[in-house]
Amino acid sequence: MKRIFSGIQPTGNLHLGNYLGAIRNWVRLQGEFECIYCVVDLHAITMPQKPEDLRRHTREATASLLAAGIDAKTHILFNQSQVSAHAEMAWIFNCVARLGWLNRMTQFKDKAGKNRDSASAGLYVYPNLMAADILTYKATHVPVGDDQKQHLELTREIAGSFNSAYGVEHFPMVEPLIFGEATRVMSLRDGSKKMSKSDASDYSRINLTDSADDIAQKIRKARTDPEPLPDTIAALEARPEADNLMGIFAALSDLSREAAMQRFAGKQFSSFKEELAALAIDSLAPITSEMRRLMADPGHVDAVLRDGAARADAIARPILRQTQDIVGFLRP
Ligand code: TYM
Repeated sequence: MKRIFSGIQPTGNLHLGNYLGAIRNWVRLQGEFECIYCVVDLHAITMPQKPEDLRRHTREATASLLAAGIDAKTHILFNQSQVSAHAEMAWIFNCVARLGWLNRMTQFKDKAGKNRDSASAGLYVYPNLMAADILTYKATHVPVGDDQKQHLELTREIAGSFNSAYGVEHFPMVEPLIFGEATRVMSLRDGSKKMSKSDASDYSRINLTDSADDIAQKIRKARTDPEPLPDTIAALEARPEADNLMGIFAALSDLSREAAMQRFAGKQFSSFKEELAALAIDSLAPITSEMRRLMADPGHVDAVLRDGAARADAIARPILRQTQDIVGFLRP
C-alpha cells in the first residue's frame, strides 16, 4: 500500500515556497496515493504563539490547502492536536532517538540561533514528533520541500532503530518525494536565504494572500543583477537571484528550468519580470479568492478539520496500540 503523510505549520502566511515546494505537489499526488495532510499545530508551539493567532493561522492554512485543491473528502485533512496519537508516539520516539542524531539537525541550529539555552525543549525534539506524525500512519511516502530532507533521514533512522531494537518489521522506511523545479524557493531579497514565513521583510516572499498589485510590486522589486539573462544552466546557477526567479517561472509554467531559461536567454530582467508577475498572478489569483471565500465561513473549515481528525484517529489509534504492545506497555 502506498500512503502519503505530510504537514505544514500554521505559523503565519503561507507563501510561494510552501506552494511550489509542497502544496502543489500534494494536490498532484492525490490521484496516485491515499493522502493524509496535516496542519501541524503541535509543531507550531515549539516557538511562542499567541493563542488567537494560532487558531486563525490553523484555519487559514486549512483554507489555503482546500483552495489549492486538497480534496478533504477523498483524502484526509486535519489539525494535529486533535489526534493525540501523535504526541503519544512522539514520546516513544523521544526514547528511541539519540541526542547525537538531534544535534546534527540544521533546522534546530537555524531556529534556535545563538541563544540555544532559551530555545524550547520542544524545538529540540521537533524531529521526533515529525517522525511520529509519519510513522503513526505507517506512511510510505512524504512529499516535502528540500529543507525537510534531513528530518526525513532522521525518521528513517528512528524507524530502523525501533525495528531492530525490538526485532520487528513494524515501521516502513519512508521515501521522501522532493520534485519539481522549485524544491527550494529563495527569498526575493537575498538569493542565499530560503523564502520563509518568519523573514522580517514582507518583500522577501509572495504570500498566498497577496493581491495582484502586491505580487507585481514584489516581483518588480526582487533583487537581481544588471546582466541580461544567461543561456546556460551553469551561468544561471552562478547567479542565485536569477536562478531563483527562473526556477519559479519554470515551476509555475510546468517547464524545465532549461526550457524556461532558453525562452529568456539574452533578454533583460525587466521583460522577464513582467512575464513572471503575470504568470504568478494568474496562478495564485484563483487560490487567493477561494481562500477568502472559505475564511468567511470558519464553521465549514472547522467541520472539515473535525471530520478529518476522526478519520485520521481511526488509522492512527490501532498503529499506536500495536506499537505500545511491542514496547511492552501493559493494557490489562
Ligand atoms: P513548513 O511548515 O516549514 O513548510 C511546509 C512545506 O513547505 C516546504 N517549504 C518550502 N519548499 C520550497 N521552498 C521554500 N522556501 C519552502 N519553505 C517551506 C517545506 O519543505 C514543507 O514541505 N517540519 C515541517 C512540517 C511537518 C511535516 C511533518 C512535514 C511536520 N510534520 C511530517 C512532512 C511530514 C515544516 O516545518 O514545514
